[in-house]
Amino acid sequence: MSLVDERRAIARVQRDIAAAPVLAHDAEAGPAPTPLPAPLLRVSDLTLEYRTPERVVRATHRVGFDVYEADRFILLGPSGCGKSTLLKAIAGFIPPVEGSITLGGEVVRGPGPDRIVVFQEFDQLPPWKTVAQNVAFPLRAAGLVGRREAEARARHYIDKVGLTPFADSYPHQLSGGMKQRVAIARALASQPKVLLMDEPFAALDALTRRKMQEELLALWEEVRFTLLFVTHSIEEALVVGNRVALLSPHPGRLRGEYNSHDFNLASVGSAAFQAAVQRLHGRLFETDPETSVPVAPAR
Ligand SMILES: Nc1ncnc2c1ncn2[C@@H]1O[C@H](COP(=O)(O)OP(=O)(O)OP(=O)(O)O)[C@@H](O)[C@H]1O
Ligand SMILES: [Mg+2]
Repeated sequence: MSLVDERRAIARVQRDIAAAPVLAHDAEAGPAPTPLPAPLLRVSDLTLEYRTPERVVRATHRVGFDVYEADRFILLGPSGCGKSTLLKAIAGFIPPVEGSITLGGEVVRGPGPDRIVVFQEFDQLPPWKTVAQNVAFPLRAAGLVGRREAEARARHYIDKVGLTPFADSYPHQLSGGMKQRVAIARALASQPKVLLMDEPFAALDALTRRKMQEELLALWEEVRFTLLFVTHSIEEALVVGNRVALLSPHPGRLRGEYNSHDFNLASVGSAAFQAAVQRLHGRLFETDPETSVPVAPAR
């Protein structure tokens, strides 16, 4: 299939998805109506465990989902359900006990510059490097580009996140939100196949968090990167995502998959948005028949 054909196929599928009723497509309910193009990221029957000399902790149990190019795919679930573990496995830091992860048809066997993670913590930037150096450094370190190209790309993405006046500042001179913008610019500068974000705005105050969500969506409109975003906030999932995968409590299993493409920051508070929140809330609180463990409330 040529690139043009592929883009047409994706556009057709996106139209079909857009035509589907909001939150009506549940993964358990059956296949989607149109044959989909090959997913960019495929997670199949993924079981992940932590092994210590004393015990084995199962973090996820046979989780599967497909992420398509330019998706804003959300992993939503209560604390301890394995969201961060899933992200770490996709980043290549944790090997599966069972199942597989493929990116662009290739099995993920370790970390690579095609998957970059943005974490919740504000201290993910080396403090001795300026904003510009922080963004350019990984490009040089991974041998992706030469010095000039690295600097040019760094400038480009620093501008995209609105930090040009702070290009020569050090992390300690920035607010938490600004540091997260640097981390996002640094991640996008590597032009990863998929951007992995683990509760990136959870430590910010409510107003800054809202602004960061808005900026992330504006950036996505412009760059159309593929995003895998972890949150335990239902509202954030509906605002940021176009698709939401809901996980059960520990060990995480896939409870269902939902379309949320109709929602954005402007929909917060509308009747449809509230109904969607309620539905997801209900699913989060349901007792899991397989484990008979009541779902803990999302924080
Ligand atoms: N390094 C580790 N060693 C052993 N067990 C771990 C380790 N990291 C996480 N776990 C366990 O794996 C399970 C999943 O943890 P994970 O951090 O993926 O959850 P999460 O969904 O990201 O939670 P939160 O919303 O609180 O960040 C939990 O039961 C946790 O205690
Ligand atoms: Mg986590």
